[in-house]
Amino acid sequence: MKALLLVGGKGTRLRPLTDRRPKPMVPIMGKPLLTRTLYVLKQHGIDEIVLSTCYKSDVIKSYFGDGSQLGLTIHYVDEDFPLGTGGAIKNSAKYFDDSFFVLNADILSNINFTEMLRFHRRKKADVTIAVTRVNDPSAYGVIEFDKDGYALSFREKPQKIISHFINAGVYIFEPGVLAKIPSGRAVSVEREVFPGLLESGRKIAVYKGCNYWMDIGTPEKYIKVHHDGFTGKLQLPEINFRQRSVYSRFNARISGSAILRGPVYLGKGVRIEEGAVVGPGVVIGDNGVIGSGCRVSRSVLWNNVNLTDGSKLTGCIVTDSCRIENISEYRHEIFTPDSTKNINPLAI
Ligand code: GTP
Repeated sequence: MKALLLVGGKGTRLRPLTDRRPKPMVPIMGKPLLTRTLYVLKQHGIDEIVLSTCYKSDVIKSYFGDGSQLGLTIHYVDEDFPLGTGGAIKNSAKYFDDSFFVLNADILSNINFTEMLRFHRRKKADVTIAVTRVNDPSAYGVIEFDKDGYALSFREKPQKIISHFINAGVYIFEPGVLAKIPSGRAVSVEREVFPGLLESGRKIAVYKGCNYWMDIGTPEKYIKVHHDGFTGKLQLPEINFRQRSVYSRFNARISGSAILRGPVYLGKGVRIEEGAVVGPGVVIGDNGVIGSGCRVSRSVLWNNVNLTDGSKLTGCIVTDSCRIENISEYRHEIFTPDSTKNINPLAI
């Protein structure tokens, strides 16, 4: 079985985390989100992957290559200019001659792909869309459907609540519908392709088996995803904080007087010095150094981060290779090598 992953967006709302990498390459507990998604797809027998790339495609290609290290076959379809979610699907059409999955690559969910495929076949649908229920659908694409589970209408960011079910960005397509998507220009699957298919009488089924869903579209959501991982609301393969409160990949050096307050995730080669207090809710990427007397809580540190003695961080994101030198207290800030930016704590 094949899947097409849309990985070409600019991820503007997630800046500055996307200044140097595309959104699907942002790490979730030490691994790029895309690695985590590919791993789950493989568990469901989906082992031939097409990556539809545009923004910073080299970062993705050099990381995954032909996919063989993950036991997958990966093809790349590059766009010269952003074709949008629908245009990207059309542009990859030559790879698909049977039912195939399409995924927005910026989401984490607990969708059971095997069950979704069974549902799609039972419904004899041209397209199946996974939906998830949210209290406030006003910022999303909302789908109305009938009692038999077929879509009736699509509305983007509606003012009035017509349904609490939103498009989860995971689809199954029959290859026959690809002919309906215009080529050579930007097309939105949500705004143009799905409404057009409905108008032309195609059957779009709605799959409701998605209880956990989160996109990492903004820094606030990025922090929230980690919070959900720590509480167990989001299940990540290999990591279960109910079983162990501190996950340490090898070679962490933790000084005798440092205190770890789980849940905490430590990458390879982390060093935590005298009297530092780390946790709860902290990710430290590979080779992180937490200087003596530092306090870090509810924060995500990427690889090769160095905090000098005495810094205090709460609710922060620190990207690769940042060195925080001022001994100060930081709350809800994003650090990159070139900039800092605030995170809105009320949106987490
Ligand atoms: P924002 O700029 O913050 O809106 O993010 P985005 O550009 O990633 O857009 P959005 O969140 O709507 O994208 C959803 C998914 O589709 C993500 O996985 C994107 O990588 C992908 N995507 C969005 N636009 C394109 C595109 O033009 N081409 C391709 N190949 N993928 C896209």
